[in-house]
Amino acid sequence: MSKPVRDPYTGRMTTGHEWNGIIELNTPVPKLVLLFLALTFLSSVIIWLLAPAWPGLNSYTKGILGIDQRTTLEHSLEKSAIKTAQWRTDIETLSFEDISRNSALLATVRDHGERLFEDNCAMCHGPDGKGGDGYPNLVDDQWLWGGDPETIMETLRVGVNSGHDEARISQMMAYGRDGILTLEQRRAVAAFVISLSSSDHTTPEDAETLSLGAEVFEQQCVSCHGPDGRGMQSVGAPNLTDDFWIYGGDITSIDNTLRDGRQGVMPNWDERLSLADRKVLTLYIDDLAQGASQ
Ligand code: HEC
Ligand code: HEC
Repeated sequence: MSKPVRDPYTGRMTTGHEWNGIIELNTPVPKLVLLFLALTFLSSVIIWLLAPAWPGLNSYTKGILGIDQRTTLEHSLEKSAIKTAQWRTDIETLSFEDISRNSALLATVRDHGERLFEDNCAMCHGPDGKGGDGYPNLVDDQWLWGGDPETIMETLRVGVNSGHDEARISQMMAYGRDGILTLEQRRAVAAFVISLSSSDHTTPEDAETLSLGAEVFEQQCVSCHGPDGRGMQSVGAPNLTDDFWIYGGDITSIDNTLRDGRQGVMPNWDERLSLADRKVLTLYIDDLAQGASQ
């Protein structure tokens, strides 16, 4: 190492280092870079002061602004809990008409109802509520137990043949298996039931079968399905004169119904869903029905 000297070409001092005759100039770090370094350091000091930064043994420096992500999250959770509690209380306390008139609440019903329906009901009643073999359509305006909101809420609460203390009991007897009707009587009454929703029975043999069927119906069926076959909501007996069928409306399906009986099971939701959830679902079914009828 030699002594630093002034370089005759650039006029700058050398560092005094020399490698095989090459001498290193002592060029200073550009001022701009120094300025940036200083600014960076300064801004980090400012941030340390304002925001949470340095860990200590038990805690950390909180910063003057108090912008702690944990508290921010807690605040937003609290806020959304208050919001949820608010709509739940509104749904629980307001009447069905008032809720239907409140567009914000209706939006919640659609959103929350869709999720509840998918999670709890769609596996039996289908994603669109249209039912399927053995499961009633909820959007066709044909009701076993009644379609006003209070009745639907009650069906949801206690279920049907569900084992709940207050469950609705649905009993379509096994007329064949229990030997109440002969095969001939069963066939005749099945034909009569079909004739209630379609008038396509014209031959004389049909007329004879139908009159036997009508007689059996009069004796065995009117107590639940009513004198005109339009059903009875107090016992959950379906209307047999429309063309909506839970178990099928062809002669074989009806004969199966008559032979072995039907005891549809609808679970009860008394403890599994809150009052607000059951009310949301009731409104949601109504909303689905309006969509289906458009
Ligand atoms: C395990 C299958 C199953 C599930 C799950 C189910 N249901 Fe049902 N539901 C039925 C059956 C079967 C019936 C018909 C009962 C009868 O024969 O009376 C029924 C009947 C109903 C009725 C009465 C219909 C009428 O015409 O009066 C309503 C309303 C209803 N369900 C709504 C719901 C809702 C809402 C859910 C979800 C919370 C749900 N169901 C979940 C099987 C189910
Ligand atoms: C004790 C009351 C009761 C009597 C009596 C009764 N039913 Fe029913 N019936 C019901 C109920 C309740 C259902 C619905 C069962 C279900 O959904 O699980 C039903 C369902 C049916 C169905 C199926 C409808 C569908 O949508 O698939 C047919 C068909 C039927 N009954 C015909 C008859 C005939 C015919 C008689 C007389 C021989 C008769 N019922 C007597 C209560 C009764």
